[in-house]
Amino acid sequence: MKELTLKSTILVVQPSELAEHDRALVAQAIEATKRSYSPYSHFHVGAAVRLVNGVTLMGCNQENAAFPSGICAERAALFAAGAQYPDEAVEAIAIAASNEQGELTDEPVSPCGPCRQVLIETETRYGRAVRILLHGRRHIYVIDGIKQLMPLSFTEF
Ligand code: THU
Repeated sequence: MKELTLKSTILVVQPSELAEHDRALVAQAIEATKRSYSPYSHFHVGAAVRLVNGVTLMGCNQENAAFPSGICAERAALFAAGAQYPDEAVEAIAIAASNEQGELTDEPVSPCGPCRQVLIETETRYGRAVRILLHGRRHIYVIDGIKQLMPLSFTEF
């Protein structure tokens, strides 16, 4: 028998340690939380995607009385990018979340399984890792590529 140990690397930083364009992307994710439609969970998630051409797009969670019909902020942003700029690779995504009072979470919120799978597909599609910035009031996690969060991922059949 052999044991495989999988290792992930996450940088834990303060906003001042981010490059200006990454700090701006986090600010856009925070802005996107204010546009969330989340009357059921009351959990407002915002995402902002930056493409290699510098264009940024926002997404936020869109809920529905028929729960599975809603969508997370990350996929809303990534699918908007795919629809509007199909030929531009995704360089980075920032994610933030708040409660109904607009209080941002202390700890970073991590993307759900289906959103991770969509990030895997995005990396495969454009042949490059997507930088992931997860905002929390205490600190920001910086992750260089979704494989850090999703090892042994399914990419082809
Ligand atoms: N949600 C996101 O938008 N992104 C995540 O990474 C986690 C969960 C949304 C889905 C749902 O509208 C609400 O947050 C509660 O799960």
